[in-house]
Amino acid sequence: MLDLERQTQPLRQELLDALARVLDHRQFILGEEVAAFERAAAEHLGVAHAVGCSSGTDALWLALAADGIGQGDAVVTTPFSFFASVSAILRAGATPVLADIDPATFNLSPAAVEKVLDNERGAATKAILPVHLYGQCGHFHAFLRLGHERGLAVIEDAAQAWGAEWEGKKAGALGDAAAFSFYPTKNLSAAGDAGMVTTNSDEIAERVQMLRQHGMRQRYRHDELGWNARMDGFQGAVLQVKLKYIAGWNQARRTAAKRYHALFHAAGLVESRPYPVHGVVLPQEIAGARHAWHQYVIRAPRRDALCEFLTARQIGSAIFYPIPLHLQDALKGLGYKEGDFPEAERAAREVLALPMFPELRDDEQETVVAAIAEFLSQLPAGR
Ligand SMILES: Cc1ncc(COP(=O)(O)O)c(C=O)c1O
Repeated sequence: MLDLERQTQPLRQELLDALARVLDHRQFILGEEVAAFERAAAEHLGVAHAVGCSSGTDALWLALAADGIGQGDAVVTTPFSFFASVSAILRAGATPVLADIDPATFNLSPAAVEKVLDNERGAATKAILPVHLYGQCGHFHAFLRLGHERGLAVIEDAAQAWGAEWEGKKAGALGDAAAFSFYPTKNLSAAGDAGMVTTNSDEIAERVQMLRQHGMRQRYRHDELGWNARMDGFQGAVLQVKLKYIAGWNQARRTAAKRYHALFHAAGLVESRPYPVHGVVLPQEIAGARHAWHQYVIRAPRRDALCEFLTARQIGSAIFYPIPLHLQDALKGLGYKEGDFPEAERAAREVLALPMFPELRDDEQETVVAAIAEFLSQLPAGR
């Protein structure tokens, strides 16, 4: 799925030098390396503030809490995401309210959000939290319009979307605040856990800084109940190095995505309907979006069998995510049931992520597509 060795090997000396700087000045937590990364990241994204923290999960919680979202508030988000999109809302003391996804992008459907805002569950809504799933922002203008019309904050879960854009603006600069993850598999990745909140609001940025450090503005004076959610100096140093290369890496992902498209079309495997029957449904870049291709995700018939078939040939593939969040045991308390979000449930049965990383070679992509062609050719006709 991902061969990080191909990324780190050419940067080995540069990364070691950066790590040595931290050892030498011994600012192991926050400090100048994190501050320098924060400045560079803010400039890269075109936002006023970027505040480093301990993970994407903490970044989501910090963005919500800094925006004043807590007990008694509801936040509308998607059931088809990583667990943290919902657990961070609960951690902030608020209630997650779910709305179904758009089958074309796998992202929150603006129409479904609007419906939820008008029903009883959505009455206490203070914020909308769209997730840029797989690296694509979906119909963001609609969320901004809804936020504006109804006085709601719009907080981006941009964990998977470093380098994505919506109508020429970078993910992270679209809403009131955004949360990034630098988990080692992400497009821009740390050498451990790390995350970041971005915002154009001076007030939100100041509150994130306070909350990530036990609610302290002055040493040992705790103004609010914050948490330890700081970024390590080592991660700041590694991320500064990698930030210099991310534009090129994301360009290489675009090239790889285009190549997958061309290979699938050339092999005659592409289904033109929204759901797979005989062939695969390819991921689409929608008008207005620039996809960061964090993942290249197809819909496939007999998905689980295909995944096993590929594994048997030592070809990586992954299911993000096999169980939608409303059906997770830990979230039973939200009161949803099977059938509540049919598009999310269907996506969970059909999606398959294929190997995708900047250094992926042409011959490897050809092997992946040839294996999928072989699998599909063995399916009984008419299925
Ligand atoms: C959509 C989404 N949100 C939040 C997170 C949480 O980020 P982290 O793993 O850095 O805590 C992730 C990371 O996997 C993610 O994919």
